[in-house]
This record gives sequence, C-alpha cells and structure tokens, in this order.
Amino acid sequence: MTVTDTRPVHTAGSPDEPWWRQAVIYQVYPRSFADSDGDGIGDLPGITTHLSHLAELGVDALWLSPFYRSPQADGGYDVADYRDVDPLFGTLADFDALVARAHELRLRVLVDLVPNHTSDEHAWFRAALAAAPSSPERARYVFRDGRGPRGDEAPNNWRSTFGGPAWERTTSPDGTPGQWYLHLFDARQPDLDWSNPQVRAEFESVLRFWLDRGVDGFRVDVAHGLVKAAGLPDWDGPATLAEERDHLAAVASGGASVSGDGLVGGGLSAAQRVADAPTVVDAGTGEPVTGAGHHGPAWDQDGVHEVYRSWRAVLDAYPGERVLVAEAWVEPLSRLARYVRPDEMHQAFNFPYLTAGWAPSTLRRLIAASYAANDAVGAPTTWVLSNHDVVRHASRFGLADPTHRPNGIGARDEQPDATLGLRRARAASLLTLALPGSAYLYQGEELGLPEHTSLDDELRQDPTFRRTKGEQLGRDGCRIPLPWAADAPGLGFSPTGAAWLPQPPEFAPLALDRQRDVPGSTYELYRAALRLRREHALGTGGLTWLPGYPDEVLAFSVRDVVVVANFGTAPVDGPEGARPLLASPDVSASPTAEAGTVPGASTVWFIR
Ligand code: NOJ
Repeated sequence: MTVTDTRPVHTAGSPDEPWWRQAVIYQVYPRSFADSDGDGIGDLPGITTHLSHLAELGVDALWLSPFYRSPQADGGYDVADYRDVDPLFGTLADFDALVARAHELRLRVLVDLVPNHTSDEHAWFRAALAAAPSSPERARYVFRDGRGPRGDEAPNNWRSTFGGPAWERTTSPDGTPGQWYLHLFDARQPDLDWSNPQVRAEFESVLRFWLDRGVDGFRVDVAHGLVKAAGLPDWDGPATLAEERDHLAAVASGGASVSGDGLVGGGLSAAQRVADAPTVVDAGTGEPVTGAGHHGPAWDQDGVHEVYRSWRAVLDAYPGERVLVAEAWVEPLSRLARYVRPDEMHQAFNFPYLTAGWAPSTLRRLIAASYAANDAVGAPTTWVLSNHDVVRHASRFGLADPTHRPNGIGARDEQPDATLGLRRARAASLLTLALPGSAYLYQGEELGLPEHTSLDDELRQDPTFRRTKGEQLGRDGCRIPLPWAADAPGLGFSPTGAAWLPQPPEFAPLALDRQRDVPGSTYELYRAALRLRREHALGTGGLTWLPGYPDEVLAFSVRDVVVVANFGTAPVDGPEGARPLLASPDVSASPTAEAGTVPGASTVWFIR
C-alpha cells in the first residue's frame, strides 16, 4: 500500500507536556541486572550501583519487575507480601536507597503491581485453603465446586496461559478432594476475586504504600485479566497468545479478512515475504491485528475499567505526575485505548506493535491505527519491541520468518541469523525511538543482546516449560544476566562470577565495556538516538508519512527530522537536500551506507 494520503496521522503536542507522554522507560528485570552480593541473583543494591548506566544512556525512568517477597514460582510475579522486599533482592532500606539515588540522577522509578493473582504462599491464600467453602477467606479468590457427580471435573474448560487447565483442585483438611480454584497462570498463582471489596481496598492500600515511599508509578501486570465474565462460561476459542497467533495465521493463509497489501504465496524468499507479509484486520473495526490480544470470558471485561478509575483517583491525590501503565494484551487498538481514557491509566503497552514483526505494511497500518486510537482518548502511544516475556528482538528478527514469535528458542530449533537479526533490530529500534509518544526499552537491548537459544532444558525455570511438558520452551532465554565487562568473571554481572542462568558466549563481545565510546556500537547508537530524540523533541512531535517510497519503506517526518526505515534489501535514496543525522547500520564497518542513501534493513534519521 503506497502512501498517497499525506495528511498528518498524528499532530504535534508541546515539548512541555507531562514527562510520561514522551518518556523513554527502561525495564529492569532485577534478578538479571546486577548482583552485588555474589549469589548469582541480581539485587536492589546491584541496581543502585549501576543506575549511572541508565543516566548515561539517557532514559527518563526505570520500571522494576517484581522484587517483593515471593517463592519465585514465576520469577516474582507470584507475590507473597506486597509490602516487603524479598531477601533475595535486599531490604526496604535498599529500595529506599535505590529510589533516592535514581531521583538524584533525575530518573523516575516505576514498580510492578501484580493484582490479578497472589502467590499460593500469600497469607490470604493460606487462610483460604484452611477455611471452609463459602467462607469470607475463600471469597477473596475464585473458588468453585467441581462439575460432575463427584465434583472431580474442573468448574469450566478454561486453560492456563502457561499451559494445562486453569483450575487446581484443593485437598480438604481431612484429606478428601475439595473445591477448585482458578489460576489463569501457574497453579501457584491463584486469581483474586475483584468483585470482593476487601481485594479492592487492599490494592488501594498497596498503591499508597509504594507512593508514600516515593515511586513515580506502576506497571500493572495482567491489567486486562482482573475481572472475569459473570458465571465463568466455557470458552472454546484461542486460550493463549500462541493460539491466537496461529488462529490469525490461519486467517491470513485462508485469505479471509486480509487487507489488500498482498498475500504470502509459496516459494517466496524471506526478503520477498517481508515485503508481502499480509495484514489481518479486525472484522468489526477494520484495524490491523497481530495476535496480541487474549479473547474470551477471562479477559478484557468491561468491569476492569472501574478498578482503574479508582486507582487513578488514588494517584491523582499525590503530588508529582505519577503514572499507571497497563500490561494489557488486548486487540484491536481501539479496545486497548479504553485503558487509557482520561480518568484511567496513563499508558498501555503497544503489544500489537511488538508482535507485528519485521513487516512494513502491517507496521505502517499499525502505527497509524495506534495514533488514531490513542488520539481519540487523548493518550500517548507507548512503543515497545522487547520485554522479559518475549524472544529478544535481535533474535526474533533473525528468524527466516521474522514475523514468527516463538515462546523461547532451543538448540533443536531454527537458530536465528545473528548478524541479520542485530542489523534489523538496530533498524527497528531507531524506528521505534523516532515515533512520537513514549518508548519502553528492555535491559540489554541497548547492547544488542540476542536471546540465549541453546539453554539446557534442566536449567529452564519458566513454569511454561513444565506446564506444557516442554512444548513451549518459555521465557528464560530473554532473562539471562547482563554482561557488563567482557573480561570479568561472569561478565561483571556478579563479583563471584555466579549467574542464575549461564551467559552464552555471544554475550562477551557485547559487554558494556566493549561498546562504551566505540563508534558504531549498538550502545552508542542508542545513546545518540536518545540524545537526538530529546534535542529534537521527537516524543511530542507529529507524524506525517512521506510519499514516493516503495512499499517496504516507512518514511515519515517528525518535527525537523525525516525518518526512513527500509525493510527491503535494496538501498533507497533519502529525502533530497537532507543530511543524515543518525544511521542504524554501523557505518564504520559498512561502507555501503553512503551518505544520503538508506541501505536495506536500515533506518536513517535525516535533518532537513
Ligand atoms: C505478565 C508478566 O509480564 C509475566 O512475566 C508473568 O508471568 C505474568 N504476567 C503473570 O503474572
């Protein structure tokens, strides 16, 4: 679909808008960021020591994945005490020191809030198990009698996002089988019942606990899952995002509901497939969809919005601009935008963008649809390519089908082309950081880190691996401890060299100390992009497509910068009379990146 309509798809705001409307926010996964005590698990003091890295990189804020008391059945997304730090990661005093240091460095701090479920070791759940059916203790969770004459069939047919049934049967104190409880994730993560006023009051109190300690906001885990459809009806549609993706792929290959951008045919090369990747559109709204949405009675129910309106009121009562960001796997984009209406959350992760892959036609439509949906409610978009739940984009984009997104990659799977993957990742990152709105970075992407694609199965810790009996490898490969110093033990992650997951050999040359001050390194590319993004106020700019480029090129202007992202293989000319400002290929190593042209698999920022 060549560009013919040159009206702005998004109009500029003011650079003085609230910080979060344009912020670049860096995700820290605490157990893999930096270890201060040598046990091989990252911790809060380790993060505090390395905050200068984030300040030098030039981000505005960090988001910390959970560090609360937890048996770590799901990397801390199973919280046993929402008001304390797990000893693995430090103490509340360590947390306070982290926030104080971050604020000194003018970095804001967001923490993760996990409201859909607790740990099975949370005091409430222990009390619920010890109490009788229909007790107030059980009423904080979703306990039900089983179906069938003996109650030995699950209350409905829902399946866990991590594989297997979404229900676990309890054993009564006398040893007989008892009621069942719902867990949309692991069996050690029982779902709370959000129709219970005690649950609502408790989380408002938890918000205040951390707001009082000075946090600048919350990333809200599973924001689309808290409220379930009344009566918990059976659901026979796709239950997991992987199934949703396969469902859309089937739609695409069947030709139904596919946009007119062209269809994938047999025998195409990877490069051709890229240019021709079909876009699937939502039948109701016509918006592009990529399989980033959970569907069915467990997800995205209208009742969740009332919860967020009450939280917004809690945050608004505090000074400073504190924010809520929704982790909501919801499509289409207009449905996702309901989470960021003026009296709800401030941001929602744009997972349709993350899951679009290396697919220019789809991305063009998605970018425009993202602005349309968010502008309609007055919210900024948030662009994101990687996080602790997906294969790192430097590896995703090196797969033969770069729109494919496996749940983990193992030694027996197709191995990504590392060079192509990194080249495309740098181009995609430069595209992302030029887009008006807010952007989220995942630790290590500024180093161009790949996924660990050959982890031993015995080392895998993601419950998905166990619950799917190894069919889905899970997310451990994107959670490997960071390489700080190429020649230090454990690549400088820990003083003893210990690491809770082994670092692959590819990490050493990508260590921070090998990239700092090295022209053309991925780290210096990100630093330059963040500096220029700020200088040119790209985060609050408007966006207008530029006509005259082939289908596999996204070209647009934002303020005085022209961005040309070339997803094809042949070079294209940059805009006439414009000077290159920043280019994603390492020009010191790639003489083909001549001034004024944009080589294949590259993004260049130009200034007029
Ligand atoms: C989303 C988190 O990002 C993921 O890591 C976690 O496993 C699930 N929510 C369950 O809390």
